[in-house]
Amino acid sequence: MSGSEATTREVTLTWRDGRRETVRATEAQTILEAAEARAVGLPFGCRTGACATCTGRVADGRVTHDREPRALKPRHLERGYVLCCIARPRTDCRIEVGADVRTAMVSNPWK
Ligand code: FES
Repeated sequence: MSGSEATTREVTLTWRDGRRETVRATEAQTILEAAEARAVGLPFGCRTGACATCTGRVADGRVTHDREPRALKPRHLERGYVLCCIARPRTDCRIEVGADVRTAMVSNPWK
C-alpha cells in the first residue's frame, strides 16, 4: 500500500432477507458513514449512540465504538450488537444490519 492510501476495511453488510452489500470504510468513517458514501441506506436516528435505531450485529471481525454506546446494555455488547452510527471496523468484517436486528434485540429483554 502506498503512503497516500488511507487504511480501509471491507465491511460486508447483510440483511435478513438475503441482501448483501460490501462497502469500504476509511479510518475516518463509521459503518453508517461508509454505507451512506456508497448510497447504501441503513436505519438511523440520533447518530450519537443514544437511540439504537442503527443497531447491527457483528457476525465476523472486530468493531469498536467511538464513545460509550449508551443505547446498548452490557449483555447486548457481549452478544455482538453494535451501533453503526458510532462504530468503526478495526478489521474486515461482516455485520448484520436492518431494522430486524434491533427488533430481535429488544423482543426478548432477557436474551
Ligand atoms: S442512530 Fe441512534 S444510536 Fe445510532
